[in-house]
Amino acid sequence: MCGIVGYIGNKDCVRFLVDGLKRVEYRGYDSAGILIYRKNTAEHFLVKNVGKIIELEKSISSNLSGNIGIAHTRWATHGEPNHKNSHPHVSNDGNIFLVHNGIIENYTSLKKKLEKTGFTFYSETDTEILVNLIQHYYKGDIEKAVKEALLDVKGTYGIGVFCLNEPDKLIAARLGSPLLIGIGKNENYFASDPSSVLKKTSEVVYMQDREIAVITKDSVVHKTLDDELLEKSIEKISFELTDIEKSGYDHFMLKEIFEQPKTITDSMRGRLLLEEGTTKLGGLNEHPEIYNSLINADKIYIVACGTSWHSALIGEYMLEEYAKIPVEVEYASEFRYRDPIITPKTVVIAISQSGETADTLAAIKEAKRKGAVVLGICNVVGSSISKETDAGVYLHAGPEIGVASTKAFTSQVIVLALITIDIARRKHLSFRQGYKIVKELKILPALVESILENSAVIKEIAKKFSSAKNFLYLGRGYNFPVALEGALKLKEISYIHAEGYPAAEMKHGPIALIDENMPVIFIAIKDTIYDKVITNIKEVKARNGVVISIASYGDEEIDLISDYVIKIPDTTNLLSPILTVIPLQLLAYYIAVEKGYNVDMPRNLAKSVTVE
Ligand code: G6P
Repeated sequence: MCGIVGYIGNKDCVRFLVDGLKRVEYRGYDSAGILIYRKNTAEHFLVKNVGKIIELEKSISSNLSGNIGIAHTRWATHGEPNHKNSHPHVSNDGNIFLVHNGIIENYTSLKKKLEKTGFTFYSETDTEILVNLIQHYYKGDIEKAVKEALLDVKGTYGIGVFCLNEPDKLIAARLGSPLLIGIGKNENYFASDPSSVLKKTSEVVYMQDREIAVITKDSVVHKTLDDELLEKSIEKISFELTDIEKSGYDHFMLKEIFEQPKTITDSMRGRLLLEEGTTKLGGLNEHPEIYNSLINADKIYIVACGTSWHSALIGEYMLEEYAKIPVEVEYASEFRYRDPIITPKTVVIAISQSGETADTLAAIKEAKRKGAVVLGICNVVGSSISKETDAGVYLHAGPEIGVASTKAFTSQVIVLALITIDIARRKHLSFRQGYKIVKELKILPALVESILENSAVIKEIAKKFSSAKNFLYLGRGYNFPVALEGALKLKEISYIHAEGYPAAEMKHGPIALIDENMPVIFIAIKDTIYDKVITNIKEVKARNGVVISIASYGDEEIDLISDYVIKIPDTTNLLSPILTVIPLQLLAYYIAVEKGYNVDMPRNLAKSVTVE
């Protein structure tokens, strides 16, 4: 969603700010803006544009330069994407400029209060109210005014502030919306995402909630909103520039699909104990009391959104079958507003790639309020969800930039399998069974590689079906959530309507849709319910449906009853989603490319949904 970048130093910062915004383009936005201050002439320049950053670049004159600046990409929440609603926003007196991520919930009452004292508002945004609230408190000390204003605010924010009267500093503050300070030499930066500063520095200080930072070119002072000085440690960004570049691929999504043999390996690194037929997870073992709550839980809720919710469903099948703990998977947005029953032995697991999804964060807070132990499975190190949970496991899949999640999904499934095996082995799972699964995990990256090597077959199928209007995805057991995920991938990037269903459930409704124009994708691997899936395929064929099957190598029967077959290797049941999802990711990708869509930035979607 929205992105923030800021710079203070001696060099010209226009390029840095624009490039910094481009790094967070993938998160989704609909307008962008930049404020630049030139020290030697004491001039400032404000440029805003609706649409892509490239449009903003076109509006920036080639001789624009300056050594202090704040920049923003906006994803509209209050007011449509237009020039006046874009950031940076400026106070009525023209002295203070603000970029803001998040939502000010009490903006109506603040607006009324400010209107009574003579303020006028030109946009529909909550941000314009905040910048004027800062002006309201401003008596010659911008740091003090920002603090006072923020104490009045209810909601979430990550902000960057520049004041013309005090042009030697920038102010940053955070509550519930990520912000970090980049440490440079004779210059400093701030950003909502580490990728925006990585070209300049890998040394960063992550801000926490209710913290404020006063940033000059030579210093950064961290305080709480109550004026308590803080000693903050400098951390290294955990990834490299190549991780956030396309590295020769046409799209980030394709790069991330093809990276999966590596990312799966990274998610398992140091966590497999083959000799003991089990697994270990540092993030849980380091907190034995919390981990014991999970091992001895009599009920687990898994809360998540989007693709993470699909991996949660696979986790439900795994944990119930192997760890024998009842599991309920909830959309985070539903969990927080109903009244889930939390007993002393209930544990909540939150799954999130970004670690910033607002609904998942809110569900965690609700679970904690009710006394549950909450564990996190996140990809982004240091994210809000990783901080908010009692303990957790990182995916170590590296930055995921394509809006349609791919490598994070397979890593989530891996981590859920690792947790399941460890718990199951502590209970009843035999060494022999544990050993077999861990052995399968070890060869999984090579199996994924072999599917990727076959991508040309999938590309051909994609070409044939790119003009279809509807798709049905069917699977059973562990591969029912994969059917949901396959359909979601297609919807997200190709805008084709697609539905995922448990294969047998097809008879209770979707079968009415089937005709010769309806491609039906079956996940029909050789598992315990293979014969049932074959029956479902025959039901579709009997109604002239077009069947594309994801099937096991060596299965010849399936060739006779399917129109197209994508063959994949076999693995053990709980790991099969990692193999079956790969062709579905590729199919969605190639169909979207065939249709000429911007795969990495699909319309209306955001990579990280930080509003409820
Ligand atoms: C957005 C993204 C999805 C993602 C979902 C949950 O909708 O477009 O790809 O699955 O958010 O995000 P999270 O970061 O919590 O996994």
